[in-house]
Amino acid sequence: TRVVVLVSGTGSLCAALLDAADDPAYPADVVAVGADREAPGLEHARRRDLPTFVCRLGDHPDRVAWDRALAGAIAAHRPDLVVSAGFMKLVGPAVLDAFGGRLLNTHPALLPAFPGAHAVRDALAAGAAVTGSTVHWVDAGMDTGPVIAQREVPVLPGDDEGRLHERIKAVERTLLVDTVARLAADPPSTRTPRETPR
Ligand code: GRF
Repeated sequence: TRVVVLVSGTGSLCAALLDAADDPAYPADVVAVGADREAPGLEHARRRDLPTFVCRLGDHPDRVAWDRALAGAIAAHRPDLVVSAGFMKLVGPAVLDAFGGRLLNTHPALLPAFPGAHAVRDALAAGAAVTGSTVHWVDAGMDTGPVIAQREVPVLPGDDEGRLHERIKAVERTLLVDTVARLAADPPSTRTPRETPR
């Protein structure tokens, strides 16, 4: 199974996938890593001589053009599965049309609780005793697609956002690696439903 990973930040989750895929027995291969900026996470791919791409919103006249460019950059690597791992942009119709149903995201909360870019901070602020990690299919919304897998993470006294996020990321790494392996063993259909050309 060919996997393209999308990152925006440090890429520790991407690194976990790359480490898992180093094992020839792991049923998926990361074939490229892309980002919406010159993200530090791209380093994990470069160190392995894997292809990378950067698709900056600012390099395009508008979001539609950016979305199309991103879809093309991903498609160039012929992925069976696309993994958003700390990719902090909402993808648009071009990406969803091309990869809907085989594009997943990992989120540091138990969706539908705490969607959005500040999930860890929001869980702390809400006084949650338990939060967690979710892997879900990406749809047009923000963190709204069908849940694939979830795992709980306790909030401990004295937790601040950083400490809690690190505890969650440790679970995210395992959940993501396990989920990608499970999907690779039983790949979603690669045909996305399209209008029959009239
Ligand atoms: C992860 O917690 C992910 O769920 C969230 O941002 C974090 C990315 O971490 N969207 P990293 O860039 O993989 O280290």
